[in-house]
Amino acid sequence: MRSAILGVGHYVPTKVVTNDDLARMMPTSDEWIQQRTGIKERRFIEHDGIGASDLAVPAVQMALERAGRKVSDVDMIIFATLSPDHFFPGSGCFLGEKLGLPGVPALDVRNQCSGFLYGLSVADAWVRTGAYKNILVVGAEVHSTGVEFTERGRDVAVLFGDGAGAALVGPSPSDDRGLISIHLHADGTGAKDLWIPAPASKHIPRITHEMLDKGEQYPKMIGKQVFRWATEKMPEVSREALAAAGIDISSIDLFVPHQANMRINQYVADKLGLPQEKVVHNIERYGNTTAATIPIGLSESVAEGRIKEGTTVLTAAFGSGYTWGAAVLRW
Ligand code: ACO
Repeated sequence: MRSAILGVGHYVPTKVVTNDDLARMMPTSDEWIQQRTGIKERRFIEHDGIGASDLAVPAVQMALERAGRKVSDVDMIIFATLSPDHFFPGSGCFLGEKLGLPGVPALDVRNQCSGFLYGLSVADAWVRTGAYKNILVVGAEVHSTGVEFTERGRDVAVLFGDGAGAALVGPSPSDDRGLISIHLHADGTGAKDLWIPAPASKHIPRITHEMLDKGEQYPKMIGKQVFRWATEKMPEVSREALAAAGIDISSIDLFVPHQANMRINQYVADKLGLPQEKVVHNIERYGNTTAATIPIGLSESVAEGRIKEGTTVLTAAFGSGYTWGAAVLRW
């Protein structure tokens, strides 16, 4: 049995934050951000009290509607996020409560930008063993409350935005459709190239005033190193997924890459020999929404008619961990 994405949806907050808005908060500029990343604007939550699980609710509703399923059909929740509502319990539990699904199991996945693909792989295995039939795979993030809008944090702060995407994964309606191959990797030697040092359970206490003064509660990134790894690993794992699927790159109709940087994606597409018109990008409007980028990209592509029945899709991600992965799907 094959698994398939039966429906996909997304949601982004209404508050638009442009590069010029950021330039009023810290020393940066529209020109610097656009040139380096392709980002023009991103969305931020409108007010205090909106967590990743709140953004997920409308994304899930859209995915279920497109799949022709009801909330009560959901028998498993997989929630990928690096910005959970709270440290514990997982955002999947909060989402289950908001959807009104008492008793439905919920699993949080902490794999940053590759989180959606990790979640999809787990869902695929569960569907194929028959353990669950209607699995929500969610990627949702609230970054705006966790970055530093100062000169010290500007390299990271300009990159990220808030948003959510969701897919309903279940048994494929036919043999030639669904998830054809998926491959995942991780390498912790680069863990501290992109990470948040504190609070940390390894420290007594987990956080101190000194750590706060040093800004250890904010993400730290060696941007050039992340760039180098991403442009090497995304083509590599894409080729691995294509080879396992027995599909040549020329048969890929659409490439839906993770949205970290427009330059990374153009480079990866060139390396794979994919023309730019087959590449989905929305980073200019949303920035990097980490675990949410791929389901948002899939969902918008469905809405635009770029993905329809029979479309062969390649998707790939690279992120903190390091973690990376790729999948080939026939819609
Ligand atoms: N505005 C203006 N200037 C800035 C900003 C900013 N927002 N941020 C950094 N600068 C300055 C730096 O201080 C530096 O100044 P200096 O030369 O005086 O020291 C200069 O700009 C150049 O900085 P670099 O880091 O060399 O710039 P680079 O060309 O590498 O671009 C970038 C930085 C955009 C972050 C790039 O390295 C990149 O995209 N890397 C990948 C990052 C990424 O994908 N992260 C997300 C991974 S996904 C996940 O899992 C969360």
